[in-house]
Amino acid sequence: MKIALTYNLKKKDETKPADYFSEFDSEETINAISSALKKRGHTVDLVNVEQPNLFSHFRKNRVDMVFNIAEGKCGKFRESEIPAILDYLDIPYTGSNTFSLALALNKALTKKILKAENIPTPRFQVFIKGNEELDSNLKFPLIVKPNREGSAKGISVSNVVITKETLFSKIKEIQELYKQEVLVEEFIDGKELTVGILKNGKVTILPILEIDFSTCQKSGEYFYSWRMKEHQGNTEFGLVPTFHCPARLDKNTEELVKEVALKTHQALGCYDISRTDIRLSKDNVPYVLEINPLPGLNPTESNFPLMAYAAGMQYEDIIEAILMSASERRMN
Ligand SMILES: Nc1ncnc2c1ncn2[C@@H]1O[C@H](COP(=O)(O)OP(=O)(O)OP(=O)(O)O)[C@@H](O)[C@H]1O
Ligand SMILES: [Mg+2]
Repeated sequence: MKIALTYNLKKKDETKPADYFSEFDSEETINAISSALKKRGHTVDLVNVEQPNLFSHFRKNRVDMVFNIAEGKCGKFRESEIPAILDYLDIPYTGSNTFSLALALNKALTKKILKAENIPTPRFQVFIKGNEELDSNLKFPLIVKPNREGSAKGISVSNVVITKETLFSKIKEIQELYKQEVLVEEFIDGKELTVGILKNGKVTILPILEIDFSTCQKSGEYFYSWRMKEHQGNTEFGLVPTFHCPARLDKNTEELVKEVALKTHQALGCYDISRTDIRLSKDNVPYVLEINPLPGLNPTESNFPLMAYAAGMQYEDIIEAILMSASERRMN
């Protein structure tokens, strides 16, 4: 197949905040996907979506399929930007569609759908003005997050608050930095789990990944904060979580967690691939935090490939599975 690989490239720019490019992909990831596709006999056109004249590029260089990992540039629907152009030009692409990508990027809207589907998700409130009255049903500790970011952008240990005063000052800070509404959620103390789903003919739920932060005490971090994600593996900082794949769960809990992830994937209408982040409370409730229809695909660092390797897949198998799933959809 003739494939275009669409991406946003991570850059170094000292004038921008440290997490500014966190959502974008490294050259390592782009090269890994490109080589995997070539190894399976496809030709690959690398398309940095920030190039000028992107629209005419697609028009002039027709491809059979776009392998899309582009996170988009800015705004409420950034992950949908490239799929929207491709929809207009009637070019098929891998992964979820314009609508599901926009929906999953909006954590609060996703949570409303989860609630309607009886999928557990932490109790929450959205702050638009920033000075709304706190819902009295919410119990501290609470965690404050930008509503439409990923890669744990804007999330640090100081976002977990136990007083109204620190809550409102954090809301203000996030609002000013990220220029968007703020999501406040009950903080779920428990296991950190993530579930990968791959569709290749049939649905494959990969072995659940458990991320144990008890080995990171020295760092002061105790959950998947931005610092933890950005510097994962850095022994000097003590940011070395322990990965268990499959997760250390009894059979019933494992089934329950997988079921909740699959229901989430289906409720959001995701295609081909997704990764659902879950906190399992001490009383065994799998609370869905969010779903990532464009999970990181770095071959050595990202969670999704780790889960696929545990299932016996090679990196090329993941890429080919995504591609085949998208091609089958096109034929139906
Ligand atoms: N309600 C919560 N209770 C406990 N921990 C939470 C909660 N919300 C977020 N966290 C912690 O913060 C991390 C990042 O949160 P979340 O997944 O919502 O952000 P994200 O930026 O979308 O992440 P990703 O990197 O997966 O795109 C979670 O993996 C978890 O460790
Ligand atoms: Mg997450």
